[in-house]
Amino acid sequence: MSLIEQIDKDRVPEHVAVIMDGNGRWAKQKSMPRVFGHKNGVKAVRSTIETAGEIGVKALTLYAFSTENWNRPKLEVKTLMSLLVSSLKNEVKNLQKNNVKLQAIGNLNLLPEKARKELNEVINLTSNNSGIILTLALSYGAREELTQAFQKISQKIVNKELMPEEITEKVINNHLYTFTLPDVDLLIRTSGEQRISNFLLWQIAYSELYFTDVLWPDFGKEDFLKAILNYQNRERRFGKTSEQIEKIDNE
Ligand code: FPP
Repeated sequence: MSLIEQIDKDRVPEHVAVIMDGNGRWAKQKSMPRVFGHKNGVKAVRSTIETAGEIGVKALTLYAFSTENWNRPKLEVKTLMSLLVSSLKNEVKNLQKNNVKLQAIGNLNLLPEKARKELNEVINLTSNNSGIILTLALSYGAREELTQAFQKISQKIVNKELMPEEITEKVINNHLYTFTLPDVDLLIRTSGEQRISNFLLWQIAYSELYFTDVLWPDFGKEDFLKAILNYQNRERRFGKTSEQIEKIDNE
């Protein structure tokens, strides 16, 4: 049976998040500059979006650029930003064809004007699409996201719009960049590193974590399906015992 046939359509993770890592090492293995790895990483982005949509994932969030990535060599940052612009231009047709709705999270004000403009254009163009929600995390950091949430909540308390005892998990959730998205069910990180790197700290509280040694530019359809199958073979307990879970399943 092929990998796709093995997927249980009723237990597809609703929200998959991906830390796309290993572009630089992939290029190094080929004695090429790091940016060559990023360029080839775009193919893996395309295939992941398509496969996720095909199997019925509702939301896919990709860590494309972190707040810390601004500290990389100037030329690399510049290339990543132009790659973002060219990919958006080249992929818009594909996104439309696949009914993908694009959104972005992060401190988007820091992006160069050109990137922000292109991003907003594609976000607007795809805003009525009803298929998978693709969220690009750009200039994103989870601590920054949480900090701005706490600032907004504190301001509401100062304005007497909210009482401290009214701060619930839901209220915090509603002040995050991801307020429209469900919790992350599955977090994938490529390239063998086993770290979270300041990505969606609040949203991954109950996520299953999947690490693979495959470097991002090599991460193809089969690799994504393997991650989904691995997820489906796990038991998610949310703090309960196996017996309690079995009982709920049998009810
Ligand atoms: C991590 O590899 C990757 C990034 C920091 C950038 C991700 C960007 C892309 C996949 C291409 C463009 C994306 C879009 C959405 C158009 P790394 O450079 O940290 O690799 P290394 O750890 O091997 O050095």
